[in-house]
Amino acid sequence: METRFRDISADAVKTDLLVLPVQEKALEAPAIRALNRRLRGKLSEQILKSKFTGAEGSSLVYSTAGNLPAAHLMLVGFGKAKDIDSDTWRRAGARARKEALAVGAEEIAVFFAPDKEPEQAAGALVEGATLASYRFNKYRSNSNPATGVKTLTLFKPGLKRNPALERAVKMVEQTIPGVFLARDLVNEPPSITTARFLGEQAQRHCRGRGLSVEVWSKQKIAAMNLAGLMAVNRGSLEEPRFIKIHYRPAGKPRKKVALIGKGITFDSGGLSLKPAKSMETMKLDMAGGAAVIGTMSRLPHLRPDIEVTGYIPATDNLPGGNAQKPGDVIRYLNGKTIEVLNTDAEGRLILADALALAAQQKPDYMINLATLTGACVVALGTGVAGIFSNDQALSDNVIRCARDAGEKLWQLPLVKEYREALKSSVADMKNVAGPHGGAITAALILQEFVDDIPWAHLDIAGPAFTETETALCAKGGTGFGVRTLLRFLLTL
Ligand code: BES
Ligand code: MN
Ligand code: ZN
Repeated sequence: METRFRDISADAVKTDLLVLPVQEKALEAPAIRALNRRLRGKLSEQILKSKFTGAEGSSLVYSTAGNLPAAHLMLVGFGKAKDIDSDTWRRAGARARKEALAVGAEEIAVFFAPDKEPEQAAGALVEGATLASYRFNKYRSNSNPATGVKTLTLFKPGLKRNPALERAVKMVEQTIPGVFLARDLVNEPPSITTARFLGEQAQRHCRGRGLSVEVWSKQKIAAMNLAGLMAVNRGSLEEPRFIKIHYRPAGKPRKKVALIGKGITFDSGGLSLKPAKSMETMKLDMAGGAAVIGTMSRLPHLRPDIEVTGYIPATDNLPGGNAQKPGDVIRYLNGKTIEVLNTDAEGRLILADALALAAQQKPDYMINLATLTGACVVALGTGVAGIFSNDQALSDNVIRCARDAGEKLWQLPLVKEYREALKSSVADMKNVAGPHGGAITAALILQEFVDDIPWAHLDIAGPAFTETETALCAKGGTGFGVRTLLRFLLTL
């Protein structure tokens, strides 16, 4: 989809779908009045009949039947002026894209007159429209290809294209392939997305200037003492992989960042087996790893002056005959030990390896993404990810980037006192605490492995796999985190 900017009015623009943002109770806006005149009052009639007021989330579609150069007109409710932010534009873009599918439109033209921050609004609009075009249809026998929207035109009388606008749009366009890659990897069935497959996909997609990929075999993982990954893998017939992706910028790097992603390709729970219902979506458990691969794959295109290393420990978690048992103890490469009381708390076991390994490189920041706990979903629902951090400035920055990206993050506390609950009778700690505060106690275990380096942990168990406004498929991988991470790397 190509983005264009045009200096033209709504009643003159020739397009398949003309989209007009309407603030609440602002139905007398000049653009609407002009269109209504051209449609001989029919638009006002339709507005009255449908009780469209411009409330956020509402819309009205009107077929112009040859009375306008545009074939269809869509009024999109923008709500109250004070509530309009970049996400309003993003959602409008997504809704326009969906309507375009419904009416078979190949060209969309959006009246573009934001009150503030035009670059942000333009980027968000294009982002919403592009994200919403995503489908995962390779396993449907009757999938009719979606009508491709060829152009998205942003217009208003007097609108000039300018470098800042174009840069904002370009940035967004450069990030989205990473989101789609992460979505594809999550949506793929778990018997396809094995650890080996994930490694191959990283090698295939992380190419370009400055990028290199290493995929460690089971033998190498054992030799490197990644004891958590080895322990979780024991119940499986599939070999584990440890994926390391490195990006070196052309010039001298200003900062060094480690991104760590949980890569459990299927989580049955292991011997602490999950009930059938809870297992249905557990192919999602590599969504953190997928987000890291998606992010890394875009760095040659966005070229931050930052050295970035991605670490993805990958295996499935199955209850085979040689599976680790409740009561087993894992000794980590930094000397710490964990008693495994519940094999379903496996994410922390493999992330501990990756965090300890990453910390050895002394990066300036470490960011971890993981579908780590059901408790986080209970706390925040499926729309919001939890963020934990030992560094408030880092956390504030990541939250700001997430807000920009339209990805919701909410900070949860690392409650020191809860460490008590993790005391083990034989090891330094056990891998599960009591019944309460499960997202926090999981984060506290991870914190033991970050060596006081500024670190943030995103528990994305809710938003990694859900229904989104920004995809044409009903429910599935969302690619959550990719857009936040890329924005973050560009702020450093
Ligand atoms: N992968 C799950 C967490 C999860 C739950 C992700 C729901 C997405 C949706 C994780 O490995 C897990 O099983 N966590 C357990 C931890 C418990 C045994 C302490 C959980 O949350 O129930
Ligand atoms: Mn689990
Ligand atoms: Zn898991």
